[in-house]
Amino acid sequence: MYDFEDTTSTVRVTTVCVVGAGYVGLTAAVCLAQLGHRVVCVETNRERLATLQRGEVPIHEPGIEELLTRHARSGRLAFTDDLDVAMTGVSVALLCVGTPPGPDGEPDLRQLGRAGADVVAAARSDVLLIVKSTVPPGSCEALELLAAGHARDGVRVVVASNPEFLREGQAVWDFFNPDRVVVGIDEPAMQSLVTGLYPAQWPLLLCDRRSAELVKYAANTFLAVKISFANEVAQLCEALGADAHHVLTGVGLDARIGGAFLSPGPGFGGSCLPKDLAGFIAVSQSVGQSAPLARAAQTVNAQALAGLLSKLDASLGSVRAKRVAILGVAFKPGTGDVRFSPGVGLGEALARRGALVRAHDPLADPGSPDVEMVADPYEAAAGADALVIMTAWPEYRELDHQRLREVMAGHVVIDAVNVVSIGEVAHVDYDVYGVGRGLAMDFAPVLWPPLEWMLDVEPSDVAASR
Ligand code: UGA
Repeated sequence: MYDFEDTTSTVRVTTVCVVGAGYVGLTAAVCLAQLGHRVVCVETNRERLATLQRGEVPIHEPGIEELLTRHARSGRLAFTDDLDVAMTGVSVALLCVGTPPGPDGEPDLRQLGRAGADVVAAARSDVLLIVKSTVPPGSCEALELLAAGHARDGVRVVVASNPEFLREGQAVWDFFNPDRVVVGIDEPAMQSLVTGLYPAQWPLLLCDRRSAELVKYAANTFLAVKISFANEVAQLCEALGADAHHVLTGVGLDARIGGAFLSPGPGFGGSCLPKDLAGFIAVSQSVGQSAPLARAAQTVNAQALAGLLSKLDASLGSVRAKRVAILGVAFKPGTGDVRFSPGVGLGEALARRGALVRAHDPLADPGSPDVEMVADPYEAAAGADALVIMTAWPEYRELDHQRLREVMAGHVVIDAVNVVSIGEVAHVDYDVYGVGRGLAMDFAPVLWPPLEWMLDVEPSDVAASR
């Protein structure tokens, strides 16, 4: 299933300390062990540490449990909360701590500063800190200065940037099948300590630290812009009676554009795209630039949720005291993560407007007082005036719509992720509103462009326009 069995061993076997066992750190720890390295992973959260030491995985991430079990047994992977133990005889540490957004979108780098200082204080010989966390350009240099102040006499500290590009839900696959490994380091003599962690045949971009740090922000910002563009086109399709699926497929087939990340939906969520887009804007602002394109992506993303609320208002009159069922509260399928999840955002917005919200998700539970979670989609739909599908879980493509309609009180279905096949539900007494499916909706006939645009055109005008 995962392409990690045949990774040829061209790595320079190293003992590494991985600081932080979140999505990034845990994936890096188990995958580096699989590549042949000896890994000690430091986690300070007691509960999470105990879970990992029992051989259990605290997050839903396919492939991790298998590798964790394998390398806890092989002896190449261990977990501890003691940095002194972890750094004994170790000179390479990967920092994989959180950089959550601060109040103005700027990343909060305190966990990184603390982790860097603690690792260096524990190091008994020269140490290389490799920053995997997403950080603004200049952070590695700043960390090098800060950490040097905590080093024992004679211990030298070098900081390198090695951003990660893993997607939640397929992090292990992404680790072993990277589009690129980006390494930013200003010390040529130490390059191989970072690049040697990975097989030599993986595509490598070697550059200075600031550029490497910015690659990550720019990549996530571009993905966010692409999704927002798809959502803007979808809006236009709804207004014009076109079908966004055809339009965006046609656009994405252009090899210069590519079809990935052009699916319209309820807006992007998760712990990365919203945070890194805000970070890109904050970093730009700090050097006197306004980042208009990134800001526009943010605006369009907020409109996606507002658009769903308007559709509900328009179809129900008002949502006050109405029952709304939400299918999907994970920020995307394949994960139990609800951070910046559009489904949760919608549930909370509806609750603020006086609606009663009941939701289902195969994996996620936001623990929100505004959203009552139930065990199956039909239970969520029972008595609902409207149903909104917010996450494209495969099981939501297989729903029994006749059964749903029978348990619902109303007939409004908003499919924010386009998983309902309009043809297949044609016989159900439903009003289904997808995203960007102008033609699929009960559309008022339009004559577009207005006929007068075609009148009185001189042949010379036509020629001139070419
Ligand atoms: C994202 C990037 O894809 C990774 O490359 C990066 O390493 C990671 O952030 C990170 O910075 O750590 P992730 O947050 O796991 O990964 O999620 P994505 O798969 O990128 O999806 C983000 C959001 O965009 C989801 O809400 C998803 O539903 C939405 N999306 C995605 C769309 O609305 N349309 C699309 O076409 C694609």
